[in-house]
This record gives sequence, C-alpha cells and structure tokens, in this order.
Amino acid sequence: MIDDKQRIIITRKWPAQVEGKMAALGHLQTNDLDQPLSRDELGFALQNAEILCPTVTDKLDAELLLNASVQTKFIANFGVGFNHIDIVAANSAGIVVANTPGVLTEATAELALTLLLMSARRAAEGERLVRSGNWTGWRPTHMLSTAVTGKTIGIVGMGRIGTALAQRCHHGFGMRILYCNRNPVDESVADDLQAKQVDMHELLATSDFVSLNCPASAQTHHLIDAHALRQMQPHAHLINTARGNIIDEVALVAALSSAEIAGAGLDVYEQEPNLARGLMSLQNVVLLPHMGSGTLETRQAMGMRALANVAAFLQGAPIPDIVTASNAVAK
Ligand code: DGY
Repeated sequence: MIDDKQRIIITRKWPAQVEGKMAALGHLQTNDLDQPLSRDELGFALQNAEILCPTVTDKLDAELLLNASVQTKFIANFGVGFNHIDIVAANSAGIVVANTPGVLTEATAELALTLLLMSARRAAEGERLVRSGNWTGWRPTHMLSTAVTGKTIGIVGMGRIGTALAQRCHHGFGMRILYCNRNPVDESVADDLQAKQVDMHELLATSDFVSLNCPASAQTHHLIDAHALRQMQPHAHLINTARGNIIDEVALVAALSSAEIAGAGLDVYEQEPNLARGLMSLQNVVLLPHMGSGTLETRQAMGMRALANVAAFLQGAPIPDIVTASNAVAK
C-alpha cells in the first residue's frame, strides 16, 4: 500500500486537542519538550517535512528558505504576526504561507487594556509593594496614579486588534479615540467610536495613552524612537502588544528613566526573551511575557485555524489565511 501522507512538523507544543486533530492529517512530528528549535533544527525541519507549522520563536530567513534541499511546500504559522518569516523568500522558493488572523483579536485587545490600566494605575508596582512586606497602610497621598476614564488614547494601527481596543476604551471608559492608519476605518466604525484619524505627530503629542497595534515591518521598525518619545506628553503611557522592534527599547529605557514619559506597558520585546539593559529595574514599566493571545480558548482557536489552513492545503483548496508580502495588514 502506498503511504501518501505528508510529513508535518509542529515546532512548539500546541494545545493537545489540536495536536490530536493534526495527527489525523499526516505524519506528525511534535515537540513535546517544547524547547525552541535551533537554526540547524529549523533547517532540518524545512528539509524533512512538506508542511511546517512554526511560531514567532522560529526565525525563517532567506538563507534557510532558499536552501536547495528544502522540501517544505506549506508553512502554517501558529500566530497572526509573521515578521519572523521572510515571505518574499518563502514565495520565491515556492512555499505558500498562512497565518491565524481574527481569532486572537479579543484576547490581545484585553491584554492591551490590562497593560494600559496597570501602567496608569501603577498596579504592578503596588503589587510588588504588598508582596515585599513594606506596605504601611492607607494614606491620602500614597501611590497616586493617573485616571483612565475620559482620557485620550492614540492607536497606531487600526486593524482588528486596534479597533477592538478602541471599542473597549471608548464604550467602557469614555475615552477619546485618535488613530493612525494607512487607510481611514469604515465610516460606521469611526462614527461608533467617534474616532479621528490624525498624523503620527498629532497622535503622539496629544494622547494620554499611545497603543501600538500595527504589524512589524521595515516601515514600522523603531517607529517609536527617541524622537517619537520626545513628542509624547510627560504624563503619557506607551503600550505595546504588537512587536518589540516597533520600539527602540534603548531609547524607551532612557525616556522612562528621565521621566520624559510617565510609564509603559509592554508584552513584546526586541530580542525576546531578553530585555534591553535597564528595563527590568525601572518601576514605571509593566513587563509581561508575550501573552497577548494567551487564553486557552484563543490558543485552541489559533491551532484550529492553522489546522484549517493545513487541511485546505492538503485538499488543494484555497488557503483561508494565505499571507503574501503585499497583504500585511494591521494586526
Ligand atoms: C501573534 O499571533 O502574532 C502572537 O504575537 C504570537 O506570535
């Protein structure tokens, strides 16, 4: 009997339920130890599986993708962001790429709001104080922070996640919404949120909170650098749930240390899992470990979305979430 099942490699551990379903689609190799694959191991995976299912921790660059021994024909990324994959190189090697959009919108917007609230209300700092045993009790001027209700948020990248955050901020906290985006949002969305499209300078200079929700690209690399940080108001907070390299982390450490801005809430970093020198010792930054999409429901949904992409590829059907170099949109 001819075994025509294709080889599928999943590079990190996925929710068990989804791995089980993927095993039914082909010869599946999982990563039960859940250690990140080395560059050599990634190269080996590309040369030994028709279908590769990577995540943000797998850097698939041109050198790996264009190797003559590559067997992979389809990359089903577990995640919406795909800046770790050289799409142009993949496509020119004849490899089709897909991601998992839509299903992590709510979870990531929730986490952006969590960071915003934590940063504004000094929640992480307060928690550290209680745990340290040094809290001496309530007093009128203790740990004063900044209100969120009624303030202005500037959203950079008004795609699915940016819009979901805007809805929470506007309808939940009565916030004014400014945004920067390549295109204006739909009129009905703009009306509902009373959202105003502005240029980057106006957004930085007039927002109390700035949230980054754009994809990582050559255009957004270090979009928030020392110059941009100088344009922000001294009481403003910067929130990033998109990708670390949108911020120049060294410049951010300087801006937070000199109180050029009041605070920051970060879920993503330039060199994960490493942080820029000095970031960890600052009180006025909330640091989370890239967990924006990290609810069980969402991670299962991401897996199911990747599974649907693999199933379509195997059937020769149109790939639901195909990614090309030109269709990178705001996350
Ligand atoms: C995403 O989906 O982009 C998450 O950040 C994990 O990669």
